[in-house]
Amino acid sequence: MSMEQVNVNIGLLGCGTVGTSLLELIHEQREVISQRTGLVIDVAMVSVRDVSKSRTAPIDPTLFTDDPKQVVESADVDVVVEVMGGIDPSRELISKALELGKPVVTANKELLAAHGEELYALADQSGVDLLFEAAVAGGIPIIRPLRESLAGEPIIRVMGIVNGTTNFILTKMTKEGMSFADALEEAQKLGYAESDPTADVGGHDAAAKAAIIASLAFGGRVNSDDVYVEGITEITPEDIEFAHRLGHCIKLLAIVEKQESNGAESLCVRVHPSMVPLTHPLANVQESFNAIFVEGDSVGELMFYGRGAGGPPTASAVLGDLIDASCNIKRSSAASIGDFTSINISPIADLETQYFFEVEVEDQPGVLAQVAAVLGEQNVSIQSMEQEGLESEARLIFITHKALESSFQAAIGALDKLKIVRNIGTVLRVIGID
Ligand code: NAP
Ligand code: HSE
Repeated sequence: MSMEQVNVNIGLLGCGTVGTSLLELIHEQREVISQRTGLVIDVAMVSVRDVSKSRTAPIDPTLFTDDPKQVVESADVDVVVEVMGGIDPSRELISKALELGKPVVTANKELLAAHGEELYALADQSGVDLLFEAAVAGGIPIIRPLRESLAGEPIIRVMGIVNGTTNFILTKMTKEGMSFADALEEAQKLGYAESDPTADVGGHDAAAKAAIIASLAFGGRVNSDDVYVEGITEITPEDIEFAHRLGHCIKLLAIVEKQESNGAESLCVRVHPSMVPLTHPLANVQESFNAIFVEGDSVGELMFYGRGAGGPPTASAVLGDLIDASCNIKRSSAASIGDFTSINISPIADLETQYFFEVEVEDQPGVLAQVAAVLGEQNVSIQSMEQEGLESEARLIFITHKALESSFQAAIGALDKLKIVRNIGTVLRVIGID
């Protein structure tokens, strides 16, 4: 029996890195998609900021417009794909599309992490899909597993590398001794970085993804403001070298985990550079690759790995959603995301973890004892210590046992006041040892 053919016209908002790769992929896969699903996907309109720019996308140039509202409202458009980025005007455009009963596919984590709940509710009211597989970890299927396969799983922790640009920069600095600035420039050329790369290097892109993961994995309302964020801009080649000497590498991690805070259950959602043991699987995630560990009470540990940024991998995730949304039009159905509950977000001060830090001190007798005493007063116990002599001073490099963040920060504050301490260098949280 031959499959019923259904024509689906898409309205594309944005034709940059992701939009161009999507148009290429649709062009290449059109026949295969039609054979497998019966869907004949056509592009009805494409909005961009500057219609005069020369473009490589395989598309009739007369379909370009600089009016995204026209795309959303066009009677010829059945599904809206938003790959422009940013909050405004994307929020208004997606809302309008959903109100008009059009399914939306988006890669916009910044928008979903800030206004996801309002948009999911709008999609549910209209009974249409709002799909966003590409918003987290590029080409890796992680949203659908969290929404569907793991919907009943008591998840304990999700941890991973979710920003391709910063992982690329740290890899280049580590393996090739490239400077931060050169590595960032290359990541931008390769289409990994956001239009404003401070979102990547400052940790905010990963924080938006952490908020989305937290909402889906734990069913709670979590937005970007709930995420504790530190980026990688302060990481130096020297830090990377120290980390290696101690058998570690430095990775920007997003971590969402349940914890007890003042006797109540809460969620700790954070993004920061971390020391990762070289033997840990995350240490081998290089370049623009991402990897996400999901730890559940029943399922145990799962790991998702793949390309986390760049046009083709991201377009693959967008196209999967586009086919799903189009099939749902055919079936007159939609996937509801469900309701979110209130959830306690624990402050970073309540975190218990291990720390790496370096202190430059005067090279004289009794110095180590003074530093150890300050740490001891705050209940911070030393796991390992290395000392190296500098010209007129000594550098002490510590890894602590698990300590409470508030106690550790108090110890660092107290160390900074010691007369024998000349400088407190990089401080990093350490994962995966205890
Ligand atoms: P991009 O290369 O900067 O492309 C953005 C596109 O949107 C351009 O075509 C631009 O027009 C258009 N645009 C931007 N603002 C507009 C406005 N106000 N009005 C009309 N058109 C506008 O961005 P991208 O890398 O493709 O990323 C797009 C989205 O996907 C973002 O949400 C991003 O976070 C997300 N994402 C990107 C990646 C990746 O690896 N790049 C991966 C996952 C998710 P012009 O072409 O005329 O400038
Ligand atoms: N700028 C993002 C990154 C794109 O580097 O991971 C993928 O979301």
